[in-house]
Amino acid sequence: MSQNEKQGFNRRGLLKGTAAIAVATAIGTLAPFNLAQAADKIKVGLMLPYTGTFTALGNAITNGFKLAVEERGGKLGGREIEYFVVDDESNPAKAPENANKLVQRDKVDVIIGTVHSGVAMGMAKVIRESGTLWINPNAGADQVTGPLCAPNIFRTSFSNWQTTHALGKVLKAKGHKNAVFITWKYAAGEQMMEGFKEGFEKEGGKLIKELYVPFPQVEFQALLTEIASIKPDAVVAFFAGGGAAKFLKDYQAAGLKGKIPLYGSGFLTDGVLDAVGDAGEGVETTLHYADGLNTKKDNAFRLAYAKTYKLQPDVYAVQGYDAGQLLAAGLEAVKGDVSKKAEMIKAMETAKIDSPRGSFTLSKAHNPVQDMYLRKVVGKESKVQGVAWKALADPARGCKM
Ligand code: PHB
Repeated sequence: MSQNEKQGFNRRGLLKGTAAIAVATAIGTLAPFNLAQAADKIKVGLMLPYTGTFTALGNAITNGFKLAVEERGGKLGGREIEYFVVDDESNPAKAPENANKLVQRDKVDVIIGTVHSGVAMGMAKVIRESGTLWINPNAGADQVTGPLCAPNIFRTSFSNWQTTHALGKVLKAKGHKNAVFITWKYAAGEQMMEGFKEGFEKEGGKLIKELYVPFPQVEFQALLTEIASIKPDAVVAFFAGGGAAKFLKDYQAAGLKGKIPLYGSGFLTDGVLDAVGDAGEGVETTLHYADGLNTKKDNAFRLAYAKTYKLQPDVYAVQGYDAGQLLAAGLEAVKGDVSKKAEMIKAMETAKIDSPRGSFTLSKAHNPVQDMYLRKVVGKESKVQGVAWKALADPARGCKM
């Protein structure tokens, strides 16, 4: 890590404060440093997909984040928030350029983003070099809290590994001895497949086939025909957003529903059930959020979200909300003075986030240590069935911090 990264995730705040003092002195009205700074808004960059198959996910994260800010009177650490928005289109090739729009052009204090693991990998280089504070509210790329971990990099969602690891135990308990994994061919799909494989094989199960479609394609027919001929005990899938809705419908249309039980990371059924009729019914998944948790915090969150947006929240909304809560913890500790980097990071590292999913803390690599729920689709909900794995921590392989 560069000296620059260690010393200040953004020296701009400090320089700006110094400049403000210089100007104030020149006109003979020296205001205390924190007052001068309080006049400025905190610049929050939202780098999320607002077009393409993950559009609904980007919107839910944005809504959740803004709800957390509004619940604090529109201010964090005493300072108002100004938003800078970039649609990353879930396009990894444009990720460095898009991240640089926020870092170089808009000079944001913090970036909230993104959904797609490949885009997150492209952002990581820009963020590590600039030292900008980054809160990742979805993208599960294991590397982000693995070999690329850094003091200024935080995640309020999950590692890809985490979301499928507990499924091994679940399938074993159902008596399934083998399974096929089907997903998009990119980092998230491959890493969720690995997390599942590791967990399932530890339980004595066998992953007999990995099937891939290019991201973001949704032509599943040929692979569903292949699954029908393999006849595995179970199918495990990762798709999300529009792709998940299409997969559930195609699985049913191919006559596989009710014949070969379908499992997945919970993204397969979160935020898509309204669009799929009964194609999701009975599908079991693992995830760090579920419908029907019925806790005080979750009930209050769901009510506030539904009132504000006229929509039901999902896991993405929760992750965005918790990104807002984590940023609030950091900014409150330094009273909005982002130049106090070390203090702010310390407060974020040690925060206990009162999340709708259940409260969680962060690992040394800045990834949530959280319960993984077993959920089952009943009607339009992914209803909690129990905890599949208590306080599951990502192994953070390769993180040196
Ligand atoms: C990812 O690319 O990391 C990703 C995207 C959508 C999800 C989950 C993970 O629902």
